[in-house]
Amino acid sequence: MEISPFPHQGPLEPDQVKGRDDLIAELTERITQRRVTALLGPRRFGKTSALTRVADDMSKAGASVVWVDLYEVTSTADLARRFDTALAAARGPLRSRLTDLAATVGLNLGFLRAEFSRRRDDRPDPDAVLATLVDTLVAGATGTPTVVMFDEFPGIDRVVGAAGLLRTKLQHHFQEIGLVFAGSQPSLMRAMFSERARPFYAQADLVAITPFTVAAVHEIVADGFESTGRDPAELPGAIFALAGGHPYRTMQAADVAWRATGPGAAYHRQTWATALATLRAETDLANEAIFSGFATSEKAVLRLLAGGESLFGTAAELLGVSSGSAQNARDNLVASGDLTVTDDRPRVVDPLLADWVKRRFAAPA
Ligand SMILES: Nc1ncnc2c1ncn2[C@@H]1O[C@H](COP(=O)(O)OP(=O)(O)O)[C@@H](O)[C@H]1O
Ligand SMILES: [Mg+2]
Repeated sequence: MEISPFPHQGPLEPDQVKGRDDLIAELTERITQRRVTALLGPRRFGKTSALTRVADDMSKAGASVVWVDLYEVTSTADLARRFDTALAAARGPLRSRLTDLAATVGLNLGFLRAEFSRRRDDRPDPDAVLATLVDTLVAGATGTPTVVMFDEFPGIDRVVGAAGLLRTKLQHHFQEIGLVFAGSQPSLMRAMFSERARPFYAQADLVAITPFTVAAVHEIVADGFESTGRDPAELPGAIFALAGGHPYRTMQAADVAWRATGPGAAYHRQTWATALATLRAETDLANEAIFSGFATSEKAVLRLLAGGESLFGTAAELLGVSSGSAQNARDNLVASGDLTVTDDRPRVVDPLLADWVKRRFAAPA
């Protein structure tokens, strides 16, 4: 079976990352110069993928890399386990150093899960273990060139005091360790680094990951088609018109169109109609599930925006949303990364969710 040149399940392998040369160069330079960076952008814009690539490049150049995944952390013990996993999986010379350092303070790195599953009075204290793990990381990372990536960093906010602890342990080492914080809730990320009351206030420069440019979409789609003996014809334009450079949706649409185009074949206009129908059929259920997770006024706001309506006019009135609740829902959706505001106009970030909402609530002809 032919392998699709448009992978789109989960984060990519380093060599699958396309169209991000400028971002990768910028992140690499920032890390090299020890300028602490917070990378923010909506879900599925390719933050993890871009960082995976940067981590791989830097690792090949001799740096050690620690990758801490804070996605949906729930407690101090959970957070400690994330650090334990991250330290045990460190790449490069740091790896064995960390194991040794941990052992000297009585920690069996990589096996915290087992320790935590012992009987209550036998279990280590999560706060103490977390502090020790962070100390171990700092001690190890200051001894050899190291990059530490915190992915889905806002997850740390669910654990009271954890961001403060991390800040305290790291604060004298910002010059020694390459640090990147990434997160999918743009407003929360921004707040974490720009509100005075927050532990990481003014500790990092914010870098936003943007949608693919039209040039990147053309290059990615054309390369994928050509490298598998297909002619993309005007497909890149059609994909950009649909997905607007949303990285995940671009890849998903390209994959569907690729599957609809046989080997050795050229893409035709009719192929796009088939591909779009398949794409919708494959994503309708998921979009319905996503939509049902929003609050009532958020649903109304999504309906209005997908339909090209104002949030404060007659259409809003007919849906029963007051200006106050529309405003509030809009702010929540911006905070969660479901809407983005450009030139003062809110837009639905996910073009296929917008497409589903528009079709689902289309006025009958
Ligand atoms: N640079 C890229 N090249 C190709 N596809 C990408 C790229 N960045 C993101 N994607 C697509 O988006 C999906 C999600 O990427 P991911 O890195 O997990 O995003 P995030 O971490 O921002 O949520 C990938 O599986 C892929 O389909
Ligand atoms: Mg990610």
